[in-house]
Amino acid sequence: MRTLLIAGNWKMNGSKALLDAFASAFAPPALADRVEVAMIVPFPYLDAARRAFESTPLKLGAQTLNPEASGAHTGEVSASMLGECGVTYVLVGHSERRALYGETDADVLARAKTALENDLTPILCVGETLEEREAGRTMDVVLAQVEAVLSPLAPTARQRLVIAYEPVWAIGTGRTATPEQAQEVMAGIRGYLARLDTTLAEGMVLLYGGSMNAGNAAELLAKPDIDGGLVGGASLKTDDFLAICQSAG
Ligand code: G3P
Repeated sequence: MRTLLIAGNWKMNGSKALLDAFASAFAPPALADRVEVAMIVPFPYLDAARRAFESTPLKLGAQTLNPEASGAHTGEVSASMLGECGVTYVLVGHSERRALYGETDADVLARAKTALENDLTPILCVGETLEEREAGRTMDVVLAQVEAVLSPLAPTARQRLVIAYEPVWAIGTGRTATPEQAQEVMAGIRGYLARLDTTLAEGMVLLYGGSMNAGNAAELLAKPDIDGGLVGGASLKTDDFLAICQSAG
């Protein structure tokens, strides 16, 4: 049975006070055994988050990384720095990085490789735009994004990834994919993985992201190919996020 993962992506939001609020909300034992929860916070909060979350089951995530080990890259952060701050997960290929910062599939692959080499777990984000969905290209777009990263990796490296399906039209819009729409695409991703390797397909944790909230999480997470969520807006509210985590498992 796969682990369920709920990851909260704060994006460029939050505060140190909010870290403390999450530390209190998650201190009492409240999660089912097979549920793992990660908070993906802005870089400046990572070290404080590690301290604040010490007595909670919360794991830490970062929102991006630079593929180089070190050097003249003003403003960037390396994988080893993230490791030193106690980071477990790192997002690669989030649609906001692709759209706003021009990250290509090749950039996403480079980041995923560096993350893996540094014992971080990349959460590879993929998803189609509204135009692509309306043109009937959803599966082609999503599988091309998955393939661009998975196919150059060694089989043992592929097994260490998490994949998040986030339809771009559902991110921050309040317009969630229906559980059936999400399941259809995620079953398609798992089918692609099975063609590479059935063990890979069975073990891969697939997350849904896009306006997931306390009201719709249970129905999404009940689908057979949805193993968790990548949550944006609702991960900034302790009650909502805790409710999402409790509807998993
Ligand atoms: O990475 C999470 C994300 O992009 C979804 O954001 O606000 O729609 O839950 P949101």
